[in-house]
Amino acid sequence: MKPKVYVTRRLPQPALDRLEEVFEMEVNPEDRVLTREEVLENVKKCDVLLCLLTDTIDGEVMDANPNLKGIANYAVGFNNIDVEAATARKLPICNTPGVLTDTTADMAWTLMFAAARRVVESDVFTRAGKFKGWGPMMLLGVDVYGKTLGVVGTGRIGDAVARRSVGFNMKVLYYDVVPNEALERDIGAQRVELDELLKEADFVSVHVPLMPATTHFIGERELKLMKKTAVLVNNSRGPVVDEKALVEALKSGEIAYAGLDVFEDEPELAPGLAELDNVTLTPHTSSATVETRTKMGMLAAENAIAIIEGRKPPNIVNPEVLE
Ligand code: GLV
Ligand code: GLV
Repeated sequence: MKPKVYVTRRLPQPALDRLEEVFEMEVNPEDRVLTREEVLENVKKCDVLLCLLTDTIDGEVMDANPNLKGIANYAVGFNNIDVEAATARKLPICNTPGVLTDTTADMAWTLMFAAARRVVESDVFTRAGKFKGWGPMMLLGVDVYGKTLGVVGTGRIGDAVARRSVGFNMKVLYYDVVPNEALERDIGAQRVELDELLKEADFVSVHVPLMPATTHFIGERELKLMKKTAVLVNNSRGPVVDEKALVEALKSGEIAYAGLDVFEDEPELAPGLAELDNVTLTPHTSSATVETRTKMGMLAAENAIAIIEGRKPPNIVNPEVLE
């Protein structure tokens, strides 16, 4: 008899095909997030759970199935999983890093340009028939090239964001707890304290994982340090930025513009956010390309298969459980 995998939401077909080579597979038949009760029910049916960042996987879920062998998350971020609880239960937790780095970095730039050049406002304006002819003062944005980029967190994604700045001839400042010597050497990026980065950068792009130490990493104090002309981009995790404080900062002109792909209480938006013109909002789609979502699915599938075959998964976040 084949082992069983439960997939909490439909993934690109190649990933499902790969899983079916090894597993008896059940997929959430509906295109929506499972309720808590459904997660608790479905985890009982499987040897490996393949879940999404929208599924909260805690000790209670793990304990619902004493035969669970491990969990493969279809995301690089794994703040939705209680890793400590999993490690205590010797359950491997896997994620999908690497394959979405460039796609996510592209989206950070998409948001920077959308903000700087007011792309969404311009589209709405044009469709609404308000374009009555070329205007010298119409929809003026700000330049991106030649400015200072501040990258907060230079792991894989922040590093890729920083490297893309070369074509735009930008000065790059970065903040990270560990130096990124390759970035310094390759593009002349300078490591500075967070406050200095916030004071100096014209564009601030945030790429830290969500954990207690990074919750509200960018809050009222930090927003006040930023330039009034600055653009803030976040496509990491919503709670890294204090969204209410950001709404205030955008309203009062403390900063000029924001581009957000993630929100504190997804899919809810902070009150007032959607009414602002000086913010571009996308629905957590930074890794949403056909190519990348397929690669993420294949990696999650390989992780799930390695778990069930007792091999070291390609990506495991708590390797100590294998020792
Ligand atoms: C998406 O947000 C991911 O973590 O993969
Ligand atoms: C995520 O892949 C990161 O390390 O930035």
